[in-house]
Amino acid sequence: MSSLIMGTGSCLPTKALTNLDLEKIVDTSDEWIRTRTGIKKRHISSSGEYTYYLASRAAEQALEMAEVAADEIDLIVVATISSHMLMPSCACFVQQEIGAKNAFAWDLNAACSGFLYSLDLADKYIRADKNNKILIIGAETLSSRLNWEDRNTCILFGDGAGAAVVGHSDSNDRGVIGSELCSDGSLWNLLYMHTAESCNPEINVPDWSGAHIVMEGREVFKYAVKAMEDAVRVLLDKHGIAMEAVNLVVPHQANVRILNKLVERLELPSDKVFINAPQYGNTSAASIPIALDEANRKGKIKENDLILFCSFGGGFTWGASLLKW
Ligand code: ACO
Repeated sequence: MSSLIMGTGSCLPTKALTNLDLEKIVDTSDEWIRTRTGIKKRHISSSGEYTYYLASRAAEQALEMAEVAADEIDLIVVATISSHMLMPSCACFVQQEIGAKNAFAWDLNAACSGFLYSLDLADKYIRADKNNKILIIGAETLSSRLNWEDRNTCILFGDGAGAAVVGHSDSNDRGVIGSELCSDGSLWNLLYMHTAESCNPEINVPDWSGAHIVMEGREVFKYAVKAMEDAVRVLLDKHGIAMEAVNLVVPHQANVRILNKLVERLELPSDKVFINAPQYGNTSAASIPIALDEANRKGKIKENDLILFCSFGGGFTWGASLLKW
């Protein structure tokens, strides 16, 4: 017995911000952004499109596909670093928004790796009790956590949400095969969310009102490629699965240059790798579930296909997961 993804969903904010729009905000160019990152546009939340709002719409789609009612959900995990409040959690807002009145709910902070950490967690809850039905969501409105004067970061990120309903699989064959998850807190200072000065110097409580992402882009690039490559190799080795057997890789959509490097290192045929970063930019924890939903709805995934995920993000956190669809 293992756990199966029963349905997927996603939601992007209405407003798109193109590279040409960004040229009017910071000293950059469409040409620079496209050649360094492959990103052409990203979606940015407008009034009312909070993280929980996007997460809830994605969740409703996933529930509909899974043919599961909201009140059948036992647990909601939202992977996010950009909820509009620190407390209550984004997951609690989702719970009330979709009417999942029998679920308990919490947020998970693992930056861009949040969805894979959530999938592993859901798998373990379901292995412990096969009746559990779990909603896992990656959702971000990072546009609210960017310094829009910093061209090193503001061109990379976008907003959005993706969701999956996870339930048990009676088949011994189909479902989550395993995950290889890692963290290294010693490298935190290469990618973090900056807080404004402490609002209480006595106890050093930060003021979250000015929170924004700070990044050493070149260093992150190097670590990201190596870490994802290693996690994928370890995971496949552990389960005795050859790279050639994988039908589709759905990676974290950091940017196209990172992904191209990863594809080269893993010697993957490019038609086996799903990439939508040009349209959405880097949506952090939301990027894998948005890509998964898009691939799923486009009919790129068939029953029994081997699907490989990999991610890397702030913390550092990284990992890979493998499942048979
Ligand atoms: N527009 C124009 N010029 C820019 C911009 C911009 N938006 N940003 C930086 N530059 C300039 C720099 O100032 C620098 O100028 P200089 O040579 O005069 O000093 C020049 O471009 C080169 O800058 P680098 O930072 O060295 O550019 P690089 O080739 O490394 O590309 C990038 C930058 C795209 C950020 C790359 O390092 C990268 O992809 N890093 C990974 C970052 C990432 O994906 N982070 C997301 C979170 S973690 C994750 O999801 C994996």
